[in-house]
Amino acid sequence: MSLVRIEEGSALVEVPKKIVEHITERNEVFYNPAMAVNRDLTVLLLRVFVREKDRPIKVAEPLAASAIRSIRILKEVPNVEKVYINDISLDALKYAKRNLELNRIAPARVEIWNEDANVFLLKTKYFDYIDIDPFGTPVDFLDATAKALAHRGVTGITATDTAPLSATYPKTCLRRYFAKPIENEFYHEVGLRILIKKIAEFFFQYDIPIEVLFSYSYLHHFRVFVKRYRGARRVDEIMKTSIGYLLYCHKCLYRGTIPFDRLRELDTTCPVCGHKLDFAGPLWVGKLWNEQYVEGMLEELTNIRHQKETEKLLKVIREESRLQTVGFYTLSALGKAFKLPSLPRKKDVLKVLRGVPTHFSGEGFRTNLDHKEVIERIKALV
Ligand SMILES: C[S@@+](CC[C@H](N)C(=O)[O-])C[C@H]1O[C@@H](n2cnc3c(N)ncnc32)[C@H](O)[C@@H]1O
Ligand SMILES: [Zn+2]
Repeated sequence: MSLVRIEEGSALVEVPKKIVEHITERNEVFYNPAMAVNRDLTVLLLRVFVREKDRPIKVAEPLAASAIRSIRILKEVPNVEKVYINDISLDALKYAKRNLELNRIAPARVEIWNEDANVFLLKTKYFDYIDIDPFGTPVDFLDATAKALAHRGVTGITATDTAPLSATYPKTCLRRYFAKPIENEFYHEVGLRILIKKIAEFFFQYDIPIEVLFSYSYLHHFRVFVKRYRGARRVDEIMKTSIGYLLYCHKCLYRGTIPFDRLRELDTTCPVCGHKLDFAGPLWVGKLWNEQYVEGMLEELTNIRHQKETEKLLKVIREESRLQTVGFYTLSALGKAFKLPSLPRKKDVLKVLRGVPTHFSGEGFRTNLDHKEVIERIKALV
């Protein structure tokens, strides 16, 4: 089989040519070039994470494929004691082993496993960092991840089943994530928040509180990094503040949230235009980013070789994390809802609404002004 050499970050890997050229699930994706941004952000986040640890960390990659991610972590993150590399496919492990040699990784720094990811995690726990990067949904692996993550450990979780989460297949979303998605201008943010709610449930049921350190949507994947702590009471607090429902008016674009445990106070009439409100959730209504982590990741950019896109994404998220609203506006949705004769310039909108851009949409922006105020100021601009 002909192989191609790929350089990414400080890793050099060889993968079968047909796989790079023709990525399908049946082909068992060994290397997906679009995931380079995903791996850059993982390395950056881990470089910030190890700053707070006074000992070397233990890492697991239960779905490792070519091992490119593990190799990058071993070469680009300081203070990594050992990475446990697992894949169910022996073929994948064959390439993983070659790539570890190619990158001169000392055998003592890795342990190679060939198990189902869940069996592997439960046999080898505990880890300071667990990376879950499957084809499609990560739900199969969340229980074992919650059980195998060490206290104050972090997990990075990818979901490529963005279509159900983003309301293209709402029934699948209900079944798989036990939440209703919504078709609106920020459907992808809703999808990401539903994914976080699902991840949170697996931790909360074991009295484990979590904090979202970083999350994003990019091309065809969602990614979430959460840190775990201890204490049932803390879980109760987080559930009150961070799990809820989104209320949304398709007519005037009003949006609001209601905490999970206060549904009896629900009014289904739009407080702005009187139309009947739609809803999404339950979902995560808490923060999507820890600002110190975002700053730290930006500082670390100079220390690794990264994609231009990674830097672009991080810079927008730095702006965006200043206003962690649930939902954002887009110019086209506002234009359509209010039959605006033309669309105002985004630059002017940001100024007038004291807004910030969002990485979810080029024409999107966040503001914490009241909805009525937003409409009035937008109308005054055109
Ligand atoms: C998307 S790839 C992983 C890509 C890799 N993390 C990276 O960054 O390049 C998913 C891998 O999971 C493996 N896999 C699928 N189901 C699995 C399971 N139940 N347990 C362990 N590995 C599994 C596949 O063989 C495949 O190599
Ligand atoms: Zn309304």
